Amino acid sequence: MRRTPFRKRKSFNRRRPSAARAVMTLEGKRIVLGVTGSIAAYKAAILVRALVKEGAAVRVVMTPLAKQFIAPLTLATLSRHPVPVEFFNPENGEWNSHVSLGEWADLLLIAPATANTIAKMAAGVADNLLLTTYLSAKCPVMVAPAMDLDMYRHPATQRNLDALRAVGNRIVEPGDGELASGLVGKGRMEEPEAIAAHVRAFFAEAAPQPLAGKRLLVTAGGTVERLDPVRYITNDSTGKMGFAIAEELAARGAEVALIRGKVSVSLSAEAKASGRVRETVALSAEEMHRACLAEFPHCDGGVMCAAVADYAPVETAPRKLKKQEERWSLELRRTPDIAAELGAAKGNRVLAGFALETDRELENAAGKLRRKGLDFIVLNSLRDAGAGFGFDTNKISVLRADGTRTDYPLKPKREAAADIADVLEACLAQRQGAAGPDGAAAPEDGKKH
Ligand code: CTP
Repeated sequence: MRRTPFRKRKSFNRRRPSAARAVMTLEGKRIVLGVTGSIAAYKAAILVRALVKEGAAVRVVMTPLAKQFIAPLTLATLSRHPVPVEFFNPENGEWNSHVSLGEWADLLLIAPATANTIAKMAAGVADNLLLTTYLSAKCPVMVAPAMDLDMYRHPATQRNLDALRAVGNRIVEPGDGELASGLVGKGRMEEPEAIAAHVRAFFAEAAPQPLAGKRLLVTAGGTVERLDPVRYITNDSTGKMGFAIAEELAARGAEVALIRGKVSVSLSAEAKASGRVRETVALSAEEMHRACLAEFPHCDGGVMCAAVADYAPVETAPRKLKKQEERWSLELRRTPDIAAELGAAKGNRVLAGFALETDRELENAAGKLRRKGLDFIVLNSLRDAGAGFGFDTNKISVLRADGTRTDYPLKPKREAAADIADVLEACLAQRQGAAGPDGAAAPEDGKKH
């Protein structure tokens, strides 16, 4: 055991204006929301609220028919700005300038977008204020269709949507479900929260992405080692930390292969909307081992966050075990040490692990760092209040292979994930140019997420 106390580096308490950290809200973003005449227009109120709550400045434009579904006053109150509908204000004759709206916006979001408006947009028709705003907008455009399923799947609508895609408009696919007509199918406007997540993902992509082009493996959650069809050995891991890391890395532009065991969380809507996290379920240590070995060669690095069982039952009974003796011994076998195996074959890849300790924390973590061939290990101690399994916060220390250490204060897991991503980013940057992950040329290719 190496006794050298890791040289302490300055605490990383500062908030780096890195891409992902800056993009967790819509602070300072300017959004024009176009609302058209669909029953889903009532959801525009919730959408405006969600966008404003995240810090965006929102201006709403409505089509004349949209007024039948939701009062302009509601949207004006929520957006804190008057809502123009006509080309000019009938009371004072003031011109409502579509050009200045289009110039002001960082994003024009049309939600809900009816089949009629989509058709007019595709054809370049400009017979209302919203459509003229669309035609004169210089900013990107996002469209959330809302209509009945037959209208949605009609070739004319699909052709029009393709025409919008062809000019770079983003389409937020409608959801499946019960429609206002009573029919069930695809056509229902995506929920406001999900649309807001698409908006966040859009701005996140537009921001600088330090990990763009990188493929990273993240393991998360606890493994499940079966005794029989109804019983298993597991641990308290919830997957919160691993999911937060996967989401943070994806927000910085990486393609993430998330291999997870048993978890009690799901991916954020933003990560889902980014399409950059590919989630694979691997419940047992064996399955996780197989999945990681298949994935790691295609990656530039990995963060092993899963709580992998060190032992699994020698046998899994095909039927429910019946009780018999007063005492019963269970025979267990060692599972493969995934991190150690990847560490031994990592070449020029960057590999990080976790150590959750209850005692002799630094010493234990340093041993794991060395034995598993890691570049750094993230230590959390169960002795620290608010740290470890299940909490929304964590208090971590990072021990690097070069013998340096950084201690971080207790913070939300997503912020701790950003600290870990900073360290990973620095390691990857150090390796850049040195050689490909295998110590040779470029990363192994041919596998797309
Ligand atoms: N790990 C792994 N495969 C295993 C066990 C652990 O990949 N079979 C990884 C974990 O994901 C973590 C690191 O190794 O990144 C340390 O896990 P931990 O359980 O703390 O270490 P162990 O080597 O199992 O040591 P201990 O004897 O303390 O359980």
